[in-house]
Amino acid sequence: MGYTDIIARYSDKPGGLIEAFHAVQKELSYLPEEVIVEAARIFNVPVAQAYGVASFYSMFSTKARGKNIIRICESAPCHVAGAAEVVAAIEAELGIKAGESTADGSFALELTECVGQCQATPVITINGKAYLDVNPAKIREILAEYK
Ligand code: FES
Repeated sequence: MGYTDIIARYSDKPGGLIEAFHAVQKELSYLPEEVIVEAARIFNVPVAQAYGVASFYSMFSTKARGKNIIRICESAPCHVAGAAEVVAAIEAELGIKAGESTADGSFALELTECVGQCQATPVITINGKAYLDVNPAKIREILAEYK
């Protein structure tokens, strides 16, 4: 399904623009400029307003990024439990730094705040699925599921 069809599905709902952005981002992993322009047309709002929505919410990305979004919690409990070593292991495995995406577009690595799983630190999420009690030795196996 093209992004125009996805956006159109939400066009007559209150708050539909945000839902449409969510749905498109789920498919593309970010919101390209043409999506924002198209959404403005479908929702009949100025392009600047659609941009405003896309950039206001931190869960939306308007920059291209890898398809599988890896987030690692760097709040204090995870930090103390060794999150930095896990970040280093992911960076080494993928050949990127936190905040970057792999050149083949398959992975993005982002730092995040507490994801509410502090009972089993350190925690990473991939596309929203949480992996608990992670350590550097587990990284290769976890990422292999997504390659
Ligand atoms: S501090 Fe990492 S999940 Fe809460």
